Amino acid sequence: MLFFVDTANLDHIREAAELGILDGVTTNPSLMAKEGISGEENILNHYKTICEIVGPDRDVSAEVISVDFKGMVEEGKKLAGLHENIVVKVPMIKEGIKAIAYFTEQGIKTNCTLVFSAGQAILAAKAGATYLSPFVGRVDDISWDGIGLIKEIYEIYDMAGYETAILAASIRNPLHIVQAAKAGADVVTCPLSAILGLFSHPLTDIGLEKFLADYQKANA
Ligand code: E4P
Repeated sequence: MLFFVDTANLDHIREAAELGILDGVTTNPSLMAKEGISGEENILNHYKTICEIVGPDRDVSAEVISVDFKGMVEEGKKLAGLHENIVVKVPMIKEGIKAIAYFTEQGIKTNCTLVFSAGQAILAAKAGATYLSPFVGRVDDISWDGIGLIKEIYEIYDMAGYETAILAASIRNPLHIVQAAKAGADVVTCPLSAILGLFSHPLTDIGLEKFLADYQKANA
């Protein structure tokens, strides 16, 4: 399973990249706004900087803000031309599916975002999306089963032989990461805090303390 970090914060991206286990980055307009990035030129430069930080062969999702086919195609082409890592992130709406089908024909990678149902997942796979982003946390937020949705999509994609990668998004904690892996996700995109949370285990801390204390005693 690939690990993406879900942020536009350059320090978080650097920290995740330095761990040596980072496969890519996802962003969205809210995450860009949170970092105070606004204005077309600044936004495009920020995407380029992210691509340079993560290095070659690591996908970076950049989201279109148009909601019509023509606008999405124009924006998507501009984004894709920025850097070879860029994946055009397109919302799961009618015009978005048309745009994904178009980008697929043009050989441009896509990430279909704002996915909340198995039916939407089928549409995105039919259009040839590279990635599908079901929002686990936001489904959980309304008392539905986010991880159950990943399992359902995995079963359908497996049976139908769809090649779209399931990118579990809206991950909120380390347990979501483990559950997404068990449910068959190909990728998880998560805040840095959720990735760092995977390290935590009290027995690791106790064990390390004891190993170091024993070494000190033996080598005093
Ligand atoms: C995915 O790519 C989305 O941008 C993101 O995971 C949404 O997460 P949130 O529900 O925590 O905002």
